[in-house]
Amino acid sequence: MTEHTMQAIVLAAGKSTRFNTGNTKLLEKICGQETVAFSTKLLEALKIPTTVVVGYQKELIQDVITKHHGDKVSFVVQQEQLGTGHALAYTRNTWNADHILIMNADAPLVTDAIIKQLYEKHVQSNAALSFVTAHNIDPSLTGYGRVIKHENGTKIIEARDYKGQESEHCCINAGIYLAKRSFLEKYIDKIEKSDVTQEFYITDLVNIADENKEAISTIVAPFDRIRGVNTLQELWATEQIKRGEIIRYWMHHGVRFAFAQNVYIDLSITIGAGTSIGCGVHLLGSTIIGKNCTIHDFSALYNTTVEDDAIIRSHCIIKKAHIGQQAEIGPFAHIKNNSIIGKQAIVGNFVEINNSSIGNRTKAKHLTYIGNTTVGNDVNIGAGTITCNYDGFSKHKTIIEDGAFVGSNNTIVAPVKIGEKSYTAAGSVITKDVPKDALGIGRSRQTNKDGYAQVLRERAKQRTEKKATIDSSASGLSFMGARKTHEPPTTSEQS
Ligand code: UD1
Ligand code: MG
Repeated sequence: MTEHTMQAIVLAAGKSTRFNTGNTKLLEKICGQETVAFSTKLLEALKIPTTVVVGYQKELIQDVITKHHGDKVSFVVQQEQLGTGHALAYTRNTWNADHILIMNADAPLVTDAIIKQLYEKHVQSNAALSFVTAHNIDPSLTGYGRVIKHENGTKIIEARDYKGQESEHCCINAGIYLAKRSFLEKYIDKIEKSDVTQEFYITDLVNIADENKEAISTIVAPFDRIRGVNTLQELWATEQIKRGEIIRYWMHHGVRFAFAQNVYIDLSITIGAGTSIGCGVHLLGSTIIGKNCTIHDFSALYNTTVEDDAIIRSHCIIKKAHIGQQAEIGPFAHIKNNSIIGKQAIVGNFVEINNSSIGNRTKAKHLTYIGNTTVGNDVNIGAGTITCNYDGFSKHKTIIEDGAFVGSNNTIVAPVKIGEKSYTAAGSVITKDVPKDALGIGRSRQTNKDGYAQVLRERAKQRTEKKATIDSSASGLSFMGARKTHEPPTTSEQS
């Protein structure tokens, strides 16, 4: 596409009325990426300089586009949203290329092949205006302009204004146009307001070209590639297609999916060959999964790296973490906030790791909270252990050095250090550093009272007997009361 200069206009100012959320549809994410960014990224990949027309919630849209493209994309503001033709007219001062490509921002599945094909056809046929069509025979799809090819030319009638028979139109308008700049300059002011909606339609340019015998060319694209997102239902349907594409891609690259229907994988994820993904798994943000990993059912990973051969068991939530090679995590583990889990480490069920690093081969297998802690290699952390990292004002650090053995149900009060190869006794509250090779015991001493169990049993027996006596006298009273109220008087009482 180098023969002529080309620039692109993306129309993104609309109010998203049919969405009924009050917010612009263009920032809704599809597989982790904002809807509007699909068109701008496609155009950047094709190296076509782009201007985006913004209006409704313009600051939010501009922020997102700037996040993706820096200052490579420019903006024009459409103050009042009076239709797609009106939005295009606002960009007039930016036109400088030979050809102007205009795209709706609400069609995220468009491919570079469609744009290239449109360009080829436009240039070969020397058309003043070219556009993409698609076949869809569902008349309930009221949102699409109807394309009518008559004897000498082509027209578009917007669905809302269309009064003819469904059989009259050949196909629908995809909302992707390529026009000679000279054509736009000549006719942009000729677009008239629709009597029905009071909007200026960009599609009117097709009818103007038709009336003025300007050459029009069209190409046909698959409907699923050009479908627009106007309602939440269409957003859902579009995301299904995108998700299907992503899963198909990874299946093709050696990833096994047990139940692909309910797996969520963002666009930006990478997964190594030989990895197996269970039912209901979410792989989101910038997550990277290595080779031969297993991610079991219903685990969700955000912005996390998992190295080769690691196992994430079911129902784990892992956010912003790094999981080492051959580590085993879960089930029901929660790892977050820049935590690093070493190679062959085991983080078991109901274990939370927060802003901590866990060394190689270290094990914390059951019911544990590790926060703001550096744990060395080959450490064993007993069941029920917690680090008390927060005193209500600030967070404090715990250090557990290589080879330490932390007994079950320890409460480790930070700041504190448990030295290399030391032990702590089960049930300890560790408030002081434990030196290297020492045993730290932080609990009260046990005393046994011989024969005292018999005393306790005797006391219990007495309590039971006393209670039985009180209950029986209370029930006697209530019987007498009941008889007086509800039973007929005896003969002696009557006399
Ligand atoms: C449009 C086409 C329709 C086509 C369909 C394909 C028109 C009049 N109709 O309908 O023929 O079949 O796309 O998906 O163009 N926008 C603005 N300013 C406005 C109004 C809209 O920038 O004043 C933007 C929107 O943000 C959106 C795009 O233009 O990204 C298209 O608008 P939308 O309302 O979705 O048009 P459709 O009804 O889908
Ligand atoms: Mg639309």
